[in-house]
Amino acid sequence: MTTTERPGTQGEQLRDRIAVELERTRARTALLTDAVDDDDLVRQHSTLMSPLVWDLAHVGNQEELWLVRDVGGREPVRRDIDDLYDAFKQPRKDRPSLPLLPPAEARGYVRTVRDKVYDLLDGIRFDDRDLVRDGFAFGMIVQHEQQHDETMLATHQLRAGAPVLDAPPPPEPRARVAGEVLVPAGPFTMGTSTDPWALDNERPAHTVELPAYVIDAAPVTNGRYRAFIADGGYDQPRWWSEAGWRHRVDAGLSAPMHWRRDGDGWAYRRFGRWSPVRDDEPVVHVCFHEAQAYAAWAGKRLPTEAEWEKAARWDPASGRSRRYPWGDGDPTGEHANLGQRHLWPAPVGAYPAGASPLGVHQLIGDVWEWTATTFHGHPGFAAFPYREYSEVFFGDDYQVLRGGSFGTDRSACRGTFRNWDYPIRRQIFSGFRCARDARPEETA
Ligand code: AVJ
Ligand code: FE
Repeated sequence: MTTTERPGTQGEQLRDRIAVELERTRARTALLTDAVDDDDLVRQHSTLMSPLVWDLAHVGNQEELWLVRDVGGREPVRRDIDDLYDAFKQPRKDRPSLPLLPPAEARGYVRTVRDKVYDLLDGIRFDDRDLVRDGFAFGMIVQHEQQHDETMLATHQLRAGAPVLDAPPPPEPRARVAGEVLVPAGPFTMGTSTDPWALDNERPAHTVELPAYVIDAAPVTNGRYRAFIADGGYDQPRWWSEAGWRHRVDAGLSAPMHWRRDGDGWAYRRFGRWSPVRDDEPVVHVCFHEAQAYAAWAGKRLPTEAEWEKAARWDPASGRSRRYPWGDGDPTGEHANLGQRHLWPAPVGAYPAGASPLGVHQLIGDVWEWTATTFHGHPGFAAFPYREYSEVFFGDDYQVLRGGSFGTDRSACRGTFRNWDYPIRRQIFSGFRCARDARPEETA
């Protein structure tokens, strides 16, 4: 906030925006948890996931810890349940056997917490502490709930039984998309020091110098991925890393998760409905090892995280990094397939308005894209406001994913946003695109 502006007005606008985001997010949480009965809320649909009712109360508990107690300085609502909903104290596989709040109580709890948050939001000063400057703590809690909403959406995808979620199909292709795009050599700004709601792992902004490289203009499609399968890609260790091949054998991988053979083709089960695999949609539900094997088979490699971000943010006209491939403006339904507006990835070419200046499409939305980079802090990283959001995950165990999926809310997705998971995971909405070094004749 600058001193030349009327603090009251700006604070008022921020307050309104926060209230809208909290409300919008809670409506999504309600949709995901009201869609099934109590039995389905308390059941564990996969050992990889929590019972939905755990996610629900965990979201409320984080909101209580950060907004009610820390920001608001208010008395605890339910201090007795903190341990139950601490993700570090309770491994996912044990969560169904905990004495969790039953659905009605969990709903009452999140309501009580939220009412207190609205109450304290009324009197807040957004320049008091780093934690609340520009509404950061509220933005962090919105993003946290949205991230759990995406996790709950992935739980719905794993759930057996009749479909309970509905959405219109994604748009049809509206543009022809080139195969590959050359990104010229040179420096770009990676990360951010100015985005007010950027999380600690996106900070700070720093310069990264990259040689020229070539990146796929779109995510790898089902059609291309089917060609890899048909060519025996899953049977040939030479395409796989050593760890990848071991996993491919141990886990018996032979196709993306949720696929089955269907005549001469394939079908894919999404949210309880089987449909034919459509060749022009980005492939989803593949693990890092599968992505890497495909890239090797295709004579390419996965992009590094920096290559992905330069493709998504660098504007050749100004040399500056922007928030999104299309510029700094917030995503709309014209730019990207985000926010569970549709229940699967859109075909390649469906979002010409979301392309980068160099013509790279669908970087934001559709599928999280595996990168070749493991999860570490940017140079100058400082944990904020707690080590457990990012720092405890740094190291070579996790691969970074970028760009968000059809299930990612716009509040938790931008050119700098970093997601991470184990290289064997594929219950998330994960796909990929390939890259390669530029050949000398391409840069001449
Ligand atoms: C950033 C998606 C890996 O779900 O484990 C949720 C987000 N952190 N609660 C996760 C998160 C704490 C996180 N990911
Ligand atoms: Fe969480």
